[in-house]
Amino acid sequence: MYWHIEMLMCGIIAYSGFREATEVILEGLRRLEYRGYDSAGLGAINGKGIELRKCVGRITNLNELITQKPVSSSTAIGHTRWATHGPPNLENCHPHCDATGRLAIVHNGVIENYKLLKNRLLDLGHKFTSDTDTEILAHLIGHFYDALPASEDKLLIAVKKALAEVDGTYGIAVIHADEPGRIIGARRGSPLVVGLGEGENFLGSDVSAMVSFTRDVIYLNDLDVVDINDSSYKISTLHTTKVTRQKSRVDWDAGDAEKGEFPHFMLKEIFEQPTSLRNVMRGRLNWDHGDAKLGGLQEVKLSQVKRILLLGCGTALHAGMMAEYVIEELSGVPVETDFSSEFRYRNSPVDQGTLVFVISQSGETVDTLAAMREVQRKGVKAYGLCNVVGSTIARESDGGVYLHAGPEIGVAATKSFTSQATALVLIGLALGRTRSLSAREGSELLAELSRLPENVEKVLNTSEAIKKVALRYKDSQSMLFLGRLANYPIAMEGALKLKEISYIHAEAYPAAELKHGVIALVSPETPSLIIATRDGVYDKNRSTIQEIKARSGQVIALANEGDSDITETVDSSILVPETHPLLQPIVNVVALQLFAYYTAVALGRDVDKPRNLAKSVTVE
Ligand code: AGP
Ligand code: GLU
Repeated sequence: MYWHIEMLMCGIIAYSGFREATEVILEGLRRLEYRGYDSAGLGAINGKGIELRKCVGRITNLNELITQKPVSSSTAIGHTRWATHGPPNLENCHPHCDATGRLAIVHNGVIENYKLLKNRLLDLGHKFTSDTDTEILAHLIGHFYDALPASEDKLLIAVKKALAEVDGTYGIAVIHADEPGRIIGARRGSPLVVGLGEGENFLGSDVSAMVSFTRDVIYLNDLDVVDINDSSYKISTLHTTKVTRQKSRVDWDAGDAEKGEFPHFMLKEIFEQPTSLRNVMRGRLNWDHGDAKLGGLQEVKLSQVKRILLLGCGTALHAGMMAEYVIEELSGVPVETDFSSEFRYRNSPVDQGTLVFVISQSGETVDTLAAMREVQRKGVKAYGLCNVVGSTIARESDGGVYLHAGPEIGVAATKSFTSQATALVLIGLALGRTRSLSAREGSELLAELSRLPENVEKVLNTSEAIKKVALRYKDSQSMLFLGRLANYPIAMEGALKLKEISYIHAEAYPAAELKHGVIALVSPETPSLIIATRDGVYDKNRSTIQEIKARSGQVIALANEGDSDITETVDSSILVPETHPLLQPIVNVVALQLFAYYTAVALGRDVDKPRNLAKSVTVE
């Protein structure tokens, strides 16, 4: 099953053996393309030093580079980068070298304390050529390497010494020109697998990178360090000199590898949410003061903000609409949300007291970009809430917050939504703490925020039950999605997901609007999905359920676990764990993503690439 998922940020492949190493690396990188990436590179030991080949864009570009300027080697490391620190350009592309240029590293993940380490290295005279956290790690390992006497096992010790100082996540592969044939790998929070062959060994961020060469693998644990060459491997940990890890045999072949164990990217991304939520909160919860700290907003005087304006399209807009309720509740600051496409053409007033956020997963949506430029034209700063690092919005905005959700490939946005919503809750918390929200209330929210990944995991664990409900209603021609307050945008998001990927018509309304017209649609053929988790309007939602039932409408309730008052009165229920009322919408939406997904699969739709849609809408 799918419960175990690690963050799939881009890819690593490393090889030592009898084949032409660059060929193996290119093949491995091609197999990792499905993860999404923005640039790629490889480093190979050529007998004298390390040769690097890097490109922005596709693996075919890297292939061309190598055809034009071949590298012959038996030991090499390769990487597909999905930028987190610095835009996708040649300077930031991996591998990164140390100060001598004789050590090279590829890295997946984020070194959280890289600034601190960078300052230390700058004081020692190191010079850096990229914006990445990875280059700092390369220099740090090199620094320890150069200080060790030749009698020591230099590369292994240097890697361990450096990693002992690192906060954050990493999957790495390291080579040194003075130790040809050898590769050191390590992991923490980012996957790394050892591939075992005859006269050759591999490292990869997942088995798909190596499955065309070997199926005998060892999955490493966090804090494991592995030392391979063409004929042997040795595993230790950061703190011990030897550990034994079990070998496994991969029972699928290269053709199945694309999405790992998932049939669709959308499902994979839905299941990545516990991790993407941890990533969006990582380093941003200020427990000492019951507050949130967002580096990209440092220069904003939150206590002086008079109004918030949130702009986006589609799912990103829904995240803003949800946040409208949450931010007002936490801070009392008036929040307005608008379609980027509307805002860009209307003459909406913005002034210096308005804090503007443009929300966009891709950072390339043309309407959102235009809306941002319109704000800036009026002399007001616009901050971005983006997932793709180095995207146009990320570059042109006046600052902002990255989501760190990892690549989202399915056209239907899922994990980017929950990350946007969570980042906006953090913004609401930070604003609230400059006003009347007490440290105690802030801490309570932080405690629930830190349980959010777990609660989402619980929803994922009920996916079979949600699938059953989806199968029951899959032949509907039309559906209504109803919710109140912050769950109204969640109803909109649930309806959008269903429309996008199943092609079933779905409309979302604030539940009380039913009486003002929409109730005419209620019939046995048009089921209503109502979000009725426990909150201040719970009783109102129960009345709405009665109104629908009285008109022979079928009701699917999204309710809290154990709520028999609701489950006994409706036709079907989708149950989710209860959390803080301001966070409940984020838990609820995951259930609706799964509902839409299973409906679409049952109808045989092309879930990842629904008709007429593109992942990133770069035309008006
Ligand atoms: C979401 O499922 C849609 N595919 C779409 O509404 C999307 O959210 C919208 O186009 C905005 O994209 P962005 O976040 O990349 O700007
Ligand atoms: N943090 C590193 C960078 O920005 C690695 C990103 C990745 O996982 O590809 O270069």
